Amino acid sequence: MQMQGPIGVFDSGYGGLTVLKEIIKKLPEYDYLYLGDNARAPYGNRSFETVYQYTLQCVKWFFEQNCSLVILACNTASAKALRTIQQNDLPVIAPGNRVLGVIRPTAEIIGTFSETKSVGILATNGTVASQSYPMETAKFFPDLKVYQEACPMWVPLIENEEYQSHGADFFIKKNLHNIFEKGKDIDVILLACTHYPLLKEKIEEYLPVGVKLISQGEIVATSLADYLTRHPEIESRCSKNGQRIFYTTDSTEDFDNHATTFYGQPISSKHVDLESIKIK
Ligand code: DGL
Repeated sequence: MQMQGPIGVFDSGYGGLTVLKEIIKKLPEYDYLYLGDNARAPYGNRSFETVYQYTLQCVKWFFEQNCSLVILACNTASAKALRTIQQNDLPVIAPGNRVLGVIRPTAEIIGTFSETKSVGILATNGTVASQSYPMETAKFFPDLKVYQEACPMWVPLIENEEYQSHGADFFIKKNLHNIFEKGKDIDVILLACTHYPLLKEKIEEYLPVGVKLISQGEIVATSLADYLTRHPEIESRCSKNGQRIFYTTDSTEDFDNHATTFYGQPISSKHVDLESIKIK
């Protein structure tokens, strides 16, 4: 039997913790290793090449920690880096390992929530520009109308703990207004950035009656549970001692202070310096 290790969960910063929280609810028995690349976050406005290089470096670090399975719990990294890593890098660096993202599992199900067959996607600039959501949803729901709105101010508001301020109300109202201008019959809004669940209550205040607000945590957790059932060769390489370990590329003190809001429980993180990990 090959060596077992934790399931890796990655985000540019704190957002992936909203996904990890839901994964743990569904699959508590596994060990999880979380990495937030806080020192280089946010990724949302960075170029394809930069997000790809940062993400690949983090994936290589996970592999060095014995993770056979890594979840990119970040839409921006899933949109800009996942396909290249899966197609070009994995076969060379670790053919038996797997890296999964959050866009595909969301795209597979999002159409079922809408009666008007019209959904609005709120995401970072990078995710919107990649066109990943319109492309992926079209594979499963060819008749679904998909409208997108980039909300570049939302992650900075969240990362700077300003998400309960009046400034947040201003940008939420603005971006919601814009998306409903684009698609007047939208009846489902997807929070396609793993940071955005923190704004859920505020967004709900401004949503038209009858519009459903969907975040990804539960969707990704259900999809992961299904994946592990279908892939015993990967599942058997995931250790099961209920351990959770958190790393950040930035200050552990800042991470521990902020992370609780996202994860719902106190966290005691460790620092990692990725400089020694070569990208190419
Ligand atoms: N949490 C990341 C996502 O889901 C984005 C945050 C960032 O811009 O780094 O897209």
